[in-house]
Amino acid sequence: MAYSNTLSRNRRLQVLSCLLLLAGGAHASYHDFGIPASRATVDVRVFNVANMTLTGGTHAFITPALPGHESTTFPMYSFLVEHRQSNKRLQFDLGIRSDPETVPSLSAFFNAGIIHLEPYEDITTLLQDGGIALSSIDAVIWSHAHFDHVGDMSKFLNTTGLIIGAATDISTYPENLNATLVASDLAGHHITRLDFTNATLNFSGLKAIDYFGDGSFYLLDTPGHLPGHTTALARVTPTSFVVLGGDTFHHAGQARPRPQFQKTYPCPAHLLEESKSAVSTDYFWSHGTRIGVFDIPSRAQQFLALSDLPDSFYADPVKSQVSLEKIASFDADPDFLVVTAHDISLRSSIPYFPAYTNGWKASRLKEELVWNFLDQSNPAFVFSPTN
Ligand SMILES: *[C@@H]1O[C@H](CO)[C@@H](O)[C@H](O)[C@H]1NC(C)=O
Ligand SMILES: *[C@@H]1O[C@H](CO)[C@@H](O)[C@H](O)[C@H]1NC(C)=O
Ligand SMILES: *[C@@H]1O[C@H](CO)[C@@H](O)[C@H](O)[C@H]1NC(C)=O
Ligand SMILES: *[C@@H]1O[C@H](CO)[C@@H](O)[C@H](O)[C@H]1NC(C)=O
Ligand SMILES: *[C@@H]1O[C@H](CO)[C@@H](O)[C@H](O)[C@H]1NC(C)=O
Ligand SMILES: [Zn+2]
Repeated sequence: MAYSNTLSRNRRLQVLSCLLLLAGGAHASYHDFGIPASRATVDVRVFNVANMTLTGGTHAFITPALPGHESTTFPMYSFLVEHRQSNKRLQFDLGIRSDPETVPSLSAFFNAGIIHLEPYEDITTLLQDGGIALSSIDAVIWSHAHFDHVGDMSKFLNTTGLIIGAATDISTYPENLNATLVASDLAGHHITRLDFTNATLNFSGLKAIDYFGDGSFYLLDTPGHLPGHTTALARVTPTSFVVLGGDTFHHAGQARPRPQFQKTYPCPAHLLEESKSAVSTDYFWSHGTRIGVFDIPSRAQQFLALSDLPDSFYADPVKSQVSLEKIASFDADPDFLVVTAHDISLRSSIPYFPAYTNGWKASRLKEELVWNFLDQSNPAFVFSPTN
């Protein structure tokens, strides 16, 4: 009797929590995205290749760009993905090459005085210094072919393949005078173009390719920033994932907050309090906000929009917005840690190589870092004019 009472109470609780989840329109776990169950995983380790400061470019990626925030610093994350089962290694995005000014079609840009780079090394040097033989890298994946992602492929062995989106433009200078790729970015490497046209999987509406065929590593079609822009979804434990978001968006405030995100990750009390006066109510509003007193909990949409100005970094702002919405649904879910290529809010919080990101969920890393962008001491804080 007591036993069956317990059972039915558990059962009632289960039904109730299901109903609550449905009422919130929530994705409660990776299952709800259509991702198949699997016990196969990959290991993911992160490098920050370089910190690049671009003067006068903020308006080209975020709206609004507030007075005093015309300069933006971009870290450049590069990811080592290891599939132990097959003993294969992939490198997702490479950051910038160590000598960009030597590329003729980039030199004008680098000599214009608007770019500052702290001293840095090629990812190939960082890998070798870390004891990772370049001969062990089976393929490089470029989320897209911008100079801050393609590194210097001539420093990889020719046995390392190159994987790109189907619509990725790999025309080279000088044949195409506008191109920022040069012949040595491609020479000798076997190039594989991803084809999503017949992809049978889709997660949160993103077409997906199961790279190793075992559910450990998926590539997702996220066009917009450039045609062919590709995101990776790495299963780091059977039930948790790291989303390698490339340039789907650049600033955490382009994805956060959203109602579902706030339900899963309520803003910590100290930031809730601090942001009342720190966030400028001349630029940001929500229905619970009074002049001079910003209210986070009632903010129903992300702080920052993707720039759609003529010089926007987003080649197609409309498609970019659709890809962003889909990635933001992962961001709001507790099974996914989203790491875009230049998210500076993470720069001092994510574990770097040789550490692994695999344990992010158990270590509650996401809870620790998702609101950092709103902390005035974080370089991602762009929510109040400074002059
Ligand atoms: C997306 O996947 C779901 C199953 O998860 C399927 O029902 C749906 O038809 C798929 N949509 C497309 C466009 O492939
Ligand atoms: C980037 O900046 C961070 C914070 O100042 C610093 O710790 C890191 O060493 C820098 N990385 C590179 C490659 O310059
Ligand atoms: C190069 O850029 C110029 C200026 O944006 C444009 O008019 C021209 O069509 C481009 N050429 C190619 C080959 O894309
Ligand atoms: C790779 O191939 C390119 C083009 O065939 C060649 O120029 C280069 O020397 C090769 N590099 C290595 C390390 O074999
Ligand atoms: C996709 O499917 C269509 C129809 O079956 C076929 O004609 C086409 O060759 C396929 N494309 C690829 C890249 O497999
Ligand atoms: Zn980029």
